[in-house]
Amino acid sequence: MNHALAPAASAALIRAEVAGLPRYDPGADPDEVAALGGVRRVIKLSNSESPYGVSPAVAAAVRRGLAGGVARYPDPTGKRLTEAIGRSLDVPAGRVVLGNGSENLLELLCRAVLDPGDLVVTQAPGFSLHETFPRVMGARVEKVPVTAEFGFDAAAWRDALAAGPKLVFLANPCNPTGTTLTSGELARVVADTPASALLVLDEAYGEFARADPEYPDGLEALRALDRPWIVLRTFSKAYGLAGLRVGYGIASDTTLVQALDQVRTPYNVNQPAQDAAVAALGDHAHLADTVRRTRLEISRVTDRLRGAGLCVVPSSANFLFIDTGCRSDRVAQQLHRAGIIVKAWREPGYETYIRASLSTPEDNDVFVRCLTEICAKDTA
Ligand SMILES: Cc1ncc(COP(=O)(O)O)c(C=O)c1O
Repeated sequence: MNHALAPAASAALIRAEVAGLPRYDPGADPDEVAALGGVRRVIKLSNSESPYGVSPAVAAAVRRGLAGGVARYPDPTGKRLTEAIGRSLDVPAGRVVLGNGSENLLELLCRAVLDPGDLVVTQAPGFSLHETFPRVMGARVEKVPVTAEFGFDAAAWRDALAAGPKLVFLANPCNPTGTTLTSGELARVVADTPASALLVLDEAYGEFARADPEYPDGLEALRALDRPWIVLRTFSKAYGLAGLRVGYGIASDTTLVQALDQVRTPYNVNQPAQDAAVAALGDHAHLADTVRRTRLEISRVTDRLRGAGLCVVPSSANFLFIDTGCRSDRVAQQLHRAGIIVKAWREPGYETYIRASLSTPEDNDVFVRCLTEICAKDTA
């Protein structure tokens, strides 16, 4: 017989900060959507993954790693990968830290730095984990809204930073809007952030934005600063390694890296992921091709949706933030019936928005057709 404990017994053990947390929303389950829509192939636009896969060098590295067996633990220091990243960015390997995805580094930073009651400043709308991980530590989170045109609100940021945060999470490009800060705006944040705070610049989508002349390379902007900072990047997006879970940070100093090492699980990045990331870093042509194709689609789909009367935020990332003009959860459900998964946005003020990461031109055409039909019907 299956005996299930009465929920109250475990509930009494859970810390209040944890009990009140929303669960991470990964988007709808592809198998369920396939069943609902009666389709064999789902078009998954919910997680900003690359439709162009990995470099052949990555596939070979993973195959070699698996052939060598997985009975051994991975290298806990990530030596080859931190050295390869260090070389590629001209930073000492000792200032490079690896994570099980960059989200792991967001969590480790909170664990290493935050005490209950500390203040964290971040963006709204924004990436949910920039709020969740600080709240797990009992920190307070102040979210600075974008302007009505989805721009950077310099005055609001100045006020929020004047309140003395311990940690600042700033995504550039921003998720979910895809908008970027200019170098002047980034310089303002840097100037207004108290020197005692840790500035975390999250560049998960930086590879896509780097082709914009206005986009500031965060590492170059922060490199010479005489205060704590870390730039986070990932192999999940433009490099196509989301399933392997590997991201990295470049820190202002080795003390910060050591603190993250002290609070992480020792083997947080598996060996095939480390080997794959080294191979991915070496294949510039694959990265350039993915970025070029993605940017073409972002521009083409933006034009088509705008042409159909939808409001689309200008994006420098691999996704679009789209105002459907109707309740986004209803739009998402209707898209599910067509076998398409997007993220219905739920942050206050954005309940009519969906975030859709783009895929191949063929899949994007299906998405545009279905979305415009749904929106035309719903607003009719
Ligand atoms: C802004 C931002 N930062 C970090 C991450 C974490 O990505 P990963 O853990 O796959 O590196 C994401 C993922 O969607 C993101 O949108």
